[in-house]
Amino acid sequence: MQTAPITSILDLIKARRSTRRFASTPVSDADLNAVLEAAQWAPSGDNYQPWKFLVIKNVATMEKIVDMIPYKQMQAFLKKAPVLIGILVNERKSSWAIIDGSLCAQNLALEAWARGLGTCFSAWYPTAPKTLVDQVKTLLNIPSHWTILTFTPLGYPDPDPKRAHILPPKRKSLEKLVMYEKFPDSTDDSENKDK
Ligand SMILES: Cc1cc2nc3c(=O)[nH]c(=O)nc-3n(C[C@H](O)[C@H](O)[C@H](O)COP(=O)(O)O)c2cc1C
Repeated sequence: MQTAPITSILDLIKARRSTRRFASTPVSDADLNAVLEAAQWAPSGDNYQPWKFLVIKNVATMEKIVDMIPYKQMQAFLKKAPVLIGILVNERKSSWAIIDGSLCAQNLALEAWARGLGTCFSAWYPTAPKTLVDQVKTLLNIPSHWTILTFTPLGYPDPDPKRAHILPPKRKSLEKLVMYEKFPDSTDDSENKDK
């Protein structure tokens, strides 16, 4: 949920939050096209652009997908999103397809946030069970050699930040992340994923 005007790319990057519940307001065509355009303009290895974006608005289709997902937590945040966008990549076309699609995903999320829309990536690649992936591919007519990188809901965040399930931003400190000139001898790899 945006609290201050965004005046720089860094502000936008830091303000964006994963959103897990949405208002029922439909997403306008202009906003939808803009987020897809942002994804389209991601960089890609050798400019292969080995991606496609699958936009799902049909409530019955969305419900079928959500009901197939075995994880309740994931089901909850996909439910009631007005739009679901699948980012699909063709690994036959490019060895960098996963990287390329990930860059699309972030472009999409940033453009969405700049327009007051929330997204939340869900972990399809590489961890979703193969049976689920196959079922969803069959339902959506996705050829078997395409990889479902992620599905993200897209919508206006629930106006109540608590209900929107936006977690507080946390990041590891730059001191822990940045090294200069070479990897230091005494690097502590034992830290947990906490920030
Ligand atoms: C590859 C990937 C998979 C993710 N999968 C899930 C997921 O299954 N469920 C979920 O609630 N959030 C998921 N997220 C969102 C992360 O939890 C979120 O990005 C992280 O907690 C940082 O919060 P922020 O996005 O608000 O900065 C995923 C993010 C990424 C990049």
